[in-house]
Order: sequence, then structure tokens, then C-alpha cells
Amino acid sequence: MSSTKVIYQIQGKESEVTLEQGVTLLEGALIHRLNPTYSCLEGICSQCEATIISGEVEVIPGFETEDHPKKVKTCQTFPKSSPVIVKYNLD
Ligand code: FES
Repeated sequence: MSSTKVIYQIQGKESEVTLEQGVTLLEGALIHRLNPTYSCLEGICSQCEATIISGEVEVIPGFETEDHPKKVKTCQTFPKSSPVIVKYNLD
């Protein structure tokens, strides 16, 4: 699969975009100017955490969040199925 449909829910707004393979969920939100929260881009700060509402994702090994399997650091996560629905928890 060379591209994936991702639906972002950020600050009560829903946006559907297409991401090329190898683009993280956070990068996709930044490319499309959706104003996600983030800081380090390296999997350390957890500012980019979001909830996977549906769909499959691939988390870079070592950055899995064990307590909440559906909660991920989006700077370390790639969409795997199409579509993926991801919600940033700002509200
Ligand atoms: S931006 Fe810091 S953990 Fe993702």
C-alpha cells in the first residue's frame, strides 16, 4: 500500500487526508496544517499522544504505550490500514 487515508479529529474538527507510506501520524497532521500538539518529535515528551479510534497502526518498537494500547505517540506511529481514525485529546 503506497498511501493511506487518515481521519484526524483535532479540537472538535474532523479532517480526512491521504498520507504517503512512511509518514507518521504526527507528520501527516503537520503537513496538512491541522495544529496537533507536539514538541520533541522523538517519542520523549508525550505531547503528541492521541487515541486510535479505529484502524490499524504500527508503532516503532520501544515506543508502545502498554497501559493504553489504543493510545499512541503519534510521532512514532504509522497508519497501517486505511482508513485510520485518530483523535487528539485536547478537549
Ligand atoms: S512529539 Fe514528543 S513524544 Fe511525540
